[in-house]
Amino acid sequence: MNISKAIPCDLKKTNYMRVKIELITAVTAMVVLTSVHTMAQKTLREATKGEFVFGVAVNMQQVNGINPVETDQIAKEFSAIVPENCMKPQPIHPEENRYYWDEADKLVVFGEKNKQVVTGHCLIWHSQISKWFFIDSHGKDVSPEILKERMRQHIQTVVGRYKGRIRGWDVVNEAFEDNGSFRNSKFYQILGKDFIKYAFQFAYEADPDAELYYNDYNVETPAKCDAIVKLVKDLKTAGCRIDAVGSQSHMQLNSPTLDATEGSFKKLSDAGVHILITEWDISILPSPYDGANIAANFNYSKEMDPYRDAVPDSVQQKWNKRMLDMFGLFLKYKDVIDRVTVWGLTDNTTWLNNFPIRGRKDYPMLFDRNNKRKPIVDEIIKLAEKYK
Ligand code: G3I
Repeated sequence: MNISKAIPCDLKKTNYMRVKIELITAVTAMVVLTSVHTMAQKTLREATKGEFVFGVAVNMQQVNGINPVETDQIAKEFSAIVPENCMKPQPIHPEENRYYWDEADKLVVFGEKNKQVVTGHCLIWHSQISKWFFIDSHGKDVSPEILKERMRQHIQTVVGRYKGRIRGWDVVNEAFEDNGSFRNSKFYQILGKDFIKYAFQFAYEADPDAELYYNDYNVETPAKCDAIVKLVKDLKTAGCRIDAVGSQSHMQLNSPTLDATEGSFKKLSDAGVHILITEWDISILPSPYDGANIAANFNYSKEMDPYRDAVPDSVQQKWNKRMLDMFGLFLKYKDVIDRVTVWGLTDNTTWLNNFPIRGRKDYPMLFDRNNKRKPIVDEIIKLAEKYK
């Protein structure tokens, strides 16, 4: 029996229409899926190309490929890396005349292999520096001459080793208090404010082609920003090279405000320096403290660690909006902002799980605890592309 003949004409038409609709639906679904897939495939590195370099602070587990997924994400998504710890004075120069290069060497090779900009962090910092740097064999503070000479040797040995391979250095880190006064560090106590100038001079001598940066947190605080602007002017007057100020940008849900952040960008660019967002993260947790002084430490309480199981949607939305607002501001200033670096890859390894209260569960990064890109990454990518 001829089936087609047996089917009434209307029914044949209906079947034809249904097949046609199903086909169109399937094709549309494929197109949508393909474009979603292509969008998801776009990396932060690609999306920010031409706007600014997009970096991440890395630890040695990541460099060593202990978790290959993390290592792969770093290589794929970021156009720059900075060591979270291994180039700081204590790890790289633990004793007088003894340097420990293994980790820093590997990190630089890792960046080169991935065609990433490598930045050095940090040459002179009051924190994570061994005691020997400041004392003599009797345990007394060394003279200004000796400290200056130790600084010279340290800076020139480290910068010299990576000459031509590291784009720029955080030469001095966190020399100011939030009220704009000089931090009473050992460097300041022994050498006065000139220790900053010496550091920039020594770094320039070691690699005249390297960019040189001053780096600090809470740069959005007007008094601190003014002090940094004055420092930039003083360094320039003294004939020192300074290319950019690193604004660490460790942020919280409510602070700093967008206005305060923009205010700091205006002041710094008016002072004739470029800006780097060097350590960006936005904590989702309540905090008794809004700085990044690593010495700050408060007691644990459950109220201060409210999202152990999950982040409520309303709070997550607030964080997402804040990330996008801030990123939008960075894009607005892309002519003076050369690099945006996030301070870590995933929520698992962020320093904020232990700061300023130990043992909490924070969610400040672009990748979650399973190394998955958070939905915010696609939003950031879309925003970056709008600015092209
Ligand atoms: O190196 C030792 C290791 O030998 C030891 O086994 C281990 C045991 O806890 O500690 C290791 O040192 C820790 C180091 O991180 C490496 O993991 C230090 O105790 C710990 O204090 C250190 O924390 C770092 C902190 O700076 C202090 O240097 C954080 O990871 C790092 O994210 C943080 O980064 C700073 C920036 O450099 C400057 N701006 C603020 C930012 C956040 O504090």
